[in-house]
Amino acid sequence: MALTATDLTPRVGSQFHIDRADLLSGAHAQEIRALLVERGVIVARGMNLTDDEQRALARTLGDLRLGTVKQEGEEGLMKVTFDKTINPEYAQFFFGSQLWHMDGTYEEMPPFATLLTPRVLSETGGQTEFANNYAAYEDLPEAEKAFLDGLKVVHTMQAALFPGKPDCSVEEFALWHSYPNREHPLVWHHKSGRKSLVLSTSGSHVVGMHPAESRDLLTRLMAHAAQEKYVYRHSWQMGDLLIWDNTGTMHRVLPFPEESGRQLHRFTLNGEEPVAGVA
Ligand SMILES: [Fe+2]
Repeated sequence: MALTATDLTPRVGSQFHIDRADLLSGAHAQEIRALLVERGVIVARGMNLTDDEQRALARTLGDLRLGTVKQEGEEGLMKVTFDKTINPEYAQFFFGSQLWHMDGTYEEMPPFATLLTPRVLSETGGQTEFANNYAAYEDLPEAEKAFLDGLKVVHTMQAALFPGKPDCSVEEFALWHSYPNREHPLVWHHKSGRKSLVLSTSGSHVVGMHPAESRDLLTRLMAHAAQEKYVYRHSWQMGDLLIWDNTGTMHRVLPFPEESGRQLHRFTLNGEEPVAGVA
């Protein structure tokens, strides 16, 4: 048996155990993908992957996101850090990662999954939390599921970032506002047949709903989905490999001191289906 897994919480997260060479061989890619989609986030300890190994592993699991030089330089590698000298383009936005979100809600097809490994850890804080949006949907009363089905939500960069920086400057707001908006169904009908909530701080409003009612609905659903029973909190150790399914989970990082130099290396897999479904 090359791959075994243990639940980290009942509803989300598994630790998987695999020989390092087996992991890198790609021979278990389909099992790993299946576990990832079933559990939302999966973790292997002590893998100590180099950038090249992490990239090669990503390629066995899906379509590696190369993006632009600015977004994902060095062949898909993004250095997740507050340090502007290391990642000048995106360090200014990472404060938003402390709020529950899905990545890429401004895209028709948000990324499928992301692989993270730590390079520098903070002595305090900096844990990453994942909430299972499949489980949160499945537990809703049937009448509410029926009500939510068919609703659409507009996602914006300013909705994603303003709550994290309510004292922003005029220039910062103008920059956020320059990003495109995207409308997504509130309930994702995955091609697998499963359904999940498409929740993220980037959700600005429900289309066609009174603004107050819309705010209440999105806030209430966020509170529902972020309950402890749907959340796995990952405390990082050097050597970890963590992969999350961005299409069925939200994530956030807990606060940590900026001067800690905390840095994670990230490779992302492109989305494989639009939220709006395939016609
Ligand atoms: Fe993120």
